[in-house]
Amino acid sequence: MTAEPPLPGTIPSPNVWRWPLIYEVENLGVDRAGVIESELRQVADWVGRDVVDLGCGTGFHLPRFAAEARSVVGVEPHPPLAERARQRVAGMPHMRVLEATAAATGLADASVDVAHARWAYFFGPGCEPGLAELERIVRPGGTAVVIDNDATRSTFGGWFRRGLPTYDPVAVECFWLRRGWTRVPLDIAWTFDTRTDFEAVLGIEFAPAVASEILADDPERTGVDYAVNLWWRRY
Ligand SMILES: C[S@@+](CC[C@H](N)C(=O)[O-])C[C@H]1O[C@@H](n2cnc3c(N)ncnc32)[C@H](O)[C@@H]1O
Repeated sequence: MTAEPPLPGTIPSPNVWRWPLIYEVENLGVDRAGVIESELRQVADWVGRDVVDLGCGTGFHLPRFAAEARSVVGVEPHPPLAERARQRVAGMPHMRVLEATAAATGLADASVDVAHARWAYFFGPGCEPGLAELERIVRPGGTAVVIDNDATRSTFGGWFRRGLPTYDPVAVECFWLRRGWTRVPLDIAWTFDTRTDFEAVLGIEFAPAVASEILADDPERTGVDYAVNLWWRRY
């Protein structure tokens, strides 16, 4: 049996596509202090609202939204992950997972109050088709929120630039600002229970040479300070 070709516009995500269980460990170690969640509530409270999580992966964030939202849709183009997300939310009311992309969600016009994308598709230049889809699906008064790395700051930001020397964080920032999005810089952390977990997560996020350097720099390290940007826009 041959695998279906990816949906147009799908961005390969080797970390979660190839190692979903290690990515789960990563998600469990991201922002244990809840800095992102508390800011998210300020800019796009989802209580009683219709939420979409674009690029939901294995659906890690879906149950949190589902606990208080009116409805939650996970959108995920990679079929094995869409299936994992479905299993995660099985039996929860008002939940759906669609095998679709951020640029072609299949959702009705003006049907969403809160559109959330975390480390998924909306990485700056290239995501214009997804922005057009947001214009279509987000209701007047609704909010879109994108969470991504801020590679200009923090120890993690330095590692990220080491791994991707051609990445231009200033160009990414200009991309969002030019389109009227607001930046909220946040300081979070990766916190892992063991060095083994930390090593495993580094191994799916960085090339082997960079991961080895990071591990050699500090043999005791099990986490890192990590700057992110929360970008948001009202419709
Ligand atoms: C790094 S993972 C993040 C998953 C999830 N947001 C989380 O925080 O656990 C990026 C996800 O975006 C998905 N993705 C790739 N291209 C996409 C597209 N065009 N539209 C929506 N999601 C996409 C990938 O399949 C992957 O599941």
